[in-house]
Amino acid sequence: MKREQWGSRAGFILAAVGSAIGLGNIWRFPYMAYENGGGAFFIPYLFAMLTAGIPFMIMEFGMGQKYKGSAPRVFARLNKKYEWLGWFQISIVAIIGIYYVAVIGWAISYFSMSFSQTWGADTNAYFFSDYLQLGGDNSPSKLGSIQWHIAVPIIIAWTITFVAIFTGIKGGIERATKIMMPLLFLMVIALIARMVFLPGALDGLNYLFQPDFSKIADPKVWSAAYGQIFFTLSVGFSIMLAYSSYLPDDSDINNNAFMTVLINCGFSIVAGILIFSILGYMAHEQAKPLTDVVSSGVGLAFVTIPAAINLLPAPYILGPIFFFALVIAGLSSHLSIVEAATSAFIDKLNWSRKKAALIVCGTGLVASMAFATNGGLLLLDLVDYFINNIALLSSCIIELVIMGWIIKLSDIHKHVNNLSEFTVGNWFEACIRYLSPAFLIVILGTNIYNTITEGYGGYTHSDLLTLGWGVIAAMLVLAIIINKTSNSDNLTKEA
Ligand code: ALA
Repeated sequence: MKREQWGSRAGFILAAVGSAIGLGNIWRFPYMAYENGGGAFFIPYLFAMLTAGIPFMIMEFGMGQKYKGSAPRVFARLNKKYEWLGWFQISIVAIIGIYYVAVIGWAISYFSMSFSQTWGADTNAYFFSDYLQLGGDNSPSKLGSIQWHIAVPIIIAWTITFVAIFTGIKGGIERATKIMMPLLFLMVIALIARMVFLPGALDGLNYLFQPDFSKIADPKVWSAAYGQIFFTLSVGFSIMLAYSSYLPDDSDINNNAFMTVLINCGFSIVAGILIFSILGYMAHEQAKPLTDVVSSGVGLAFVTIPAAINLLPAPYILGPIFFFALVIAGLSSHLSIVEAATSAFIDKLNWSRKKAALIVCGTGLVASMAFATNGGLLLLDLVDYFINNIALLSSCIIELVIMGWIIKLSDIHKHVNNLSEFTVGNWFEACIRYLSPAFLIVILGTNIYNTITEGYGGYTHSDLLTLGWGVIAAMLVLAIIINKTSNSDNLTKEA
């Protein structure tokens, strides 16, 4: 069976950009920049983008295109011993897929509420008590019951993802992202065009861009920058390997990788400008300092922004545009997350795409119901922390070590340069072999040390042990078992 292919270069780039631009750009990046030194955060962020993001993207596009497979197959084709890393990455993407969709579900609910701002004046109480129904006795391990008003939008999000995956690369994912991405760009441009002219908006931007250079020496700032780069670029956890495996043999690699990274990171800065214009306006309207109106993580999109929408002129237009943009950004990434897992099953078990899509999306849907419960937010917070700060960074380091030190990196270097409109020099290998692993090992080490000594988020030891460390250990064991028990029959059948 011949491997599916993208219909055009633009189709591939839009799909890759669609994967990269997601919830991470709209609600994670602006707050991270603000919290980690404002304008000064751009120094570690751009450093991480140049030394880790771009080389990693070139490497993964090259690997996927050369070895034509989902992550487990790519690593198995490098050497059967490394197949487990592919499965470890698939377990990361599977877990992200089941909680990421919950946030898309919330955004769908808020989209429908934004026409008449049914969240009311106290958006904090509304989000946590009325919408999430989060009770004081809930914890990540005491979830309560399924809340159907949250479950239904999650099911809607899964249905859209399922249809795109089921229909295939060209007819489904490529077609969907060709509609979604231009629509997203248009909506964000329309929002920015209105927001930056609101009173107070420029003060908001000053807050975002005002550099606090004292933060540059803080390792946490560098950790945030590197963690954000891998998550936002969808590298190191099987997605870009799967997407590039559908590239034709003569595809450009370097230019495509640069474009994907630069469009994504440019979009993050644009999203930052949008969010901080809104916050500046809100601070101005409430005559409060900006530090009093800004909130972190999910609170930014679902508490602060709804409160700001209440104050906007024509909230019934700007509110729906904002939440629709969030839904679209989330869905185009969710497609890629689920495709990465689906393609692994197609490769490994020779399932048809339709069968794999049904089984993967069906199982994912059932699992994601855990996040539609009263305590879903707490579970999401805990799992997201461990996946991003421990599992994803570990996966990236192992991939860098295998590619930079064990396998001949010069083969991939030559491969990408032979195919590309412009070549990349020795800096590419230097970043993969030395710079990125050195930074990441220090960052991961600090994260592990801090998590062991300080815990996270005030959760109990047993929750951290079972749902954090325990889940990562289980992912690792499972990946190794699959590697050990599988044969290499399916590695050469189709290329
Ligand atoms: N890259 C995707 C995001 O940033 C996963 O949301």
